[in-house]
Amino acid sequence: MTQKTTVSIIKCDVGSLAGHHIVPKPLFNVAEKNLKTAKEQGLINSYYVFNAGDDLELLMVHEKGESNPEIHKLAWQTFKEAADKALSLKLYGAGQDLLKDAFSGNIRGMGPGVAEMEIEERPSDPIVVFAADKTSAGAFNYPLFRIFADPMSTAGLVIDPNMADGFKFEVMDTMDNTKVVLKSPEEMYDLIALIGTVQRYMISRVWRARDDLICSSGSITRLSQIAGKYVGKDDPVMIVRGQHGLPAIGEILVPFMHTYLVEGWMRGSHWGPIMPVSLRDSKCTAFDGPPRLVALGFQVANGHIACDDNGIPMIADLFDDPAFELARKEAVKVGSMLRRMGEFEPARLGPEEMEYTTLHQVLSKLKERFKPA
Ligand code: 13P
Ligand code: 13P
Ligand code: MG
Ligand code: MG
Repeated sequence: MTQKTTVSIIKCDVGSLAGHHIVPKPLFNVAEKNLKTAKEQGLINSYYVFNAGDDLELLMVHEKGESNPEIHKLAWQTFKEAADKALSLKLYGAGQDLLKDAFSGNIRGMGPGVAEMEIEERPSDPIVVFAADKTSAGAFNYPLFRIFADPMSTAGLVIDPNMADGFKFEVMDTMDNTKVVLKSPEEMYDLIALIGTVQRYMISRVWRARDDLICSSGSITRLSQIAGKYVGKDDPVMIVRGQHGLPAIGEILVPFMHTYLVEGWMRGSHWGPIMPVSLRDSKCTAFDGPPRLVALGFQVANGHIACDDNGIPMIADLFDDPAFELARKEAVKVGSMLRRMGEFEPARLGPEEMEYTTLHQVLSKLKERFKPA
């Protein structure tokens, strides 16, 4: 049997510097220390620690498969330790996403977000990992549609015969906790009908239709449903595989030349324009945003992230580029327009999405004062 390689990205808001702005250095240090040890012990082969705003992101490459209890435990313990550190420094929201106490073998459903993809390595396997802050998993529906289903965006759908059969999308209904697989182009309209409802239906996986080759995997969590109250947005991560019969890295990135609106931003309660940024600008400021997105590219090589001569994983900071300047400018412009609307819809999310906020308290307070009209 061919040895398979697993890419895992597991993330958590363990506490942040100055409100919900950024993951500070001491928390990075905890993650670096633990993942270095795990590498020395042979549990993982490669790792890269980074942040999406106030979310600590652990990228790990290993051969243990998806949902491996040891890998998940490593992440859980690292987040616990970092949260303790955050608490001792009185950082904001220390342990925010650690919603459960005892680790029971799988970190899913406990607060942290997880995207994993087990692959049989191709002769060359380029991967892009996306991580966003101040938004939810539905934020990836639109670009995933553009990447894997829209021939006006991905030229390969028209030009490369390997993609001619299209792609299959696994769509989660996050309210009913059910899922359905839809195939594009045949079922494209049904697909859009579902995934256009970004607050409920979220794309969890994508496969190439011709041979069921896995090409995308995303984190689908609803923190508010786990916690039963508002605890910040889900701040999703996603792994996308590219090239050689899959969308090229450039086709994976082109949807981000323009901004688009996502739910999240201040108090997880507003529509805001997504802003593709470099790691340097991976921080949230104005109205706790605008929602930020980073994209890191790398090559998987023999169970590792391909390294330089010094053994350092080679990571491409893909949005660190003037090609995304227009999208960033649009995000500022659209964002400032939306903010002028204050708490009036559609700048603020609709009532269904406010159910976990304090809005219902306002309603119950006024209940007695409502008279038949
Ligand atoms: P606090 O009431 O704890 O300030 O929470 C609000 C919040 O964090 C939104 O940014
Ligand atoms: P996070 O989910 O990124 O912690 O944001 C919480 C929030 O309320 C921002 O205003
Ligand atoms: Mg936070
Ligand atoms: Mg966050």
